[in-house]
Amino acid sequence: MIIGIFISQNILNTYIQEKRQEILTKSNILSNRIKFYLTNNEILVLDSLLKTLVENYSKEIKARIIIVDKNNIVKSDSNNEFEGSKLYHLEIQKALAGISNSNVYNFKEYGHVMYVAVPIILDDEVVGATFTSVSLNDIYNVVDRINNKIRLISLVSTVLIALMSFIFADFITKPISEMTKAITKMAQGNLGLKVEIKTNDEFKQLANAFNVMSTKLSQVDKQRKDFVANVSHELRTPLSSIKLLSESLLHQEKVDALVYKEFLQDIDSEIDRLNNIIDDLLILVDLDKEKLTLDFKTTYINFLLEKIIARLKPLAENKKISLDYIEREKIQIKVDANKIQQAVINIIHNAIKYTPEGGRVEVKLYTERDYVVIRVKDNGIGIPKESLPQIFDRFYRVDKARSRSTGGTGLGLSIAYQIVSLHQGTIDVESELGKGSTFYIKIPIDLNLA
Ligand SMILES: Nc1ncnc2c1ncn2[C@@H]1O[C@H](COP(=O)(O)OP(=O)(O)OP(=O)(O)O)[C@@H](O)[C@H]1O
Ligand SMILES: [Mg+2]
Repeated sequence: MIIGIFISQNILNTYIQEKRQEILTKSNILSNRIKFYLTNNEILVLDSLLKTLVENYSKEIKARIIIVDKNNIVKSDSNNEFEGSKLYHLEIQKALAGISNSNVYNFKEYGHVMYVAVPIILDDEVVGATFTSVSLNDIYNVVDRINNKIRLISLVSTVLIALMSFIFADFITKPISEMTKAITKMAQGNLGLKVEIKTNDEFKQLANAFNVMSTKLSQVDKQRKDFVANVSHELRTPLSSIKLLSESLLHQEKVDALVYKEFLQDIDSEIDRLNNIIDDLLILVDLDKEKLTLDFKTTYINFLLEKIIARLKPLAENKKISLDYIEREKIQIKVDANKIQQAVINIIHNAIKYTPEGGRVEVKLYTERDYVVIRVKDNGIGIPKESLPQIFDRFYRVDKARSRSTGGTGLGLSIAYQIVSLHQGTIDVESELGKGSTFYIKIPIDLNLA
């Protein structure tokens, strides 16, 4: 807007300057042509000649032209109004003093008018003046029109800029502020928040990535809370049993030595249970370490399995379960033998634990494509279909009441799964309720250790 006003002011000044120059030039030419007429004013013919000249010039430059002599008496007026009378305009006085000059006036009646006066000089002497008055209204109208156009353009561009910044705000600022809000809330512990962004661009991609991250975070957070709750619960159960047992002994008088022994045996087994849970938890913490280095060594899996079977044989015999090992081939692969042993023991242990007396557990070793497979098959109680996806979760047990009597914590399979995963392997399960379960531990033969 300001620039617009500045430009139009400049245009106006240039126009007026040009007009002034034109009138000055024309007035000088006229003055030069009429200088002789002013001195010889007795001759009438000259008077009428002067009149035609003045009229012609007046028409040419569209201005009123008045010629005065050195005594301010009007010799000729293109409007035929002031001839013979005296005229004392400021510009005329200056011209008679020998100075060409001009001024612009704004009259209420006529609008903008420029007065130009130049001296008429004959033989180095001022003999009169040419006074021209020209209307500048045309120029002012043109500049006014330009001004209006500039105003219109400014208005339109202001509206456009406002509109664009509005759109800009909606497309860029809004998604960013939306995202910032979500991040701030998340930082305050409000995990799992989702941002919804309607545009279909990079912001949408960013929002999607954010939402995936947010979901993951809340899942991890929930797992962590569940884990802590589960750990506390599992540790508390044996502890409260111990407390109960020892208190009842303390509050009884004259307790029989046999009762003492019985209670102490119970306390002892609860302590064993506590120890087992803590051992399992420590193993898990160890496996969770980010930079866990496994001690990979070329190992005969068949020998490892023989060792494990020998260790678990007494446990199976206790329940009159036949524990058989079927070996197809001698297989040598790189594993962390201690860890794999732990995983396999957990699974065979389960097979014995969840198979009724007189049952059968069979361990078989074979290769299948790029994998070594350790198959542990039992004809025990089996696992319901709906529980299959969860059995590897920490603390998950199909039947909590039943497991209480068998003393499980629900950590064995998650430890086994973690160990096999660290070997880039998998554990698959097939099970039928009441008929038995089969676990397949698969470890790649050519482990990519990079
Ligand atoms: N061979 C199996 N037959 C039937 N159910 C099984 C078998 N193996 C595992 N399960 C089910 O899966 C659950 C999880 O097994 P997991 O070994 O993780 O825990 P657990 O045996 O209960 O306790 P622990 O931590 O002492 O091993 C068990 O509670 C059991 O319900
Ligand atoms: Mg177990």
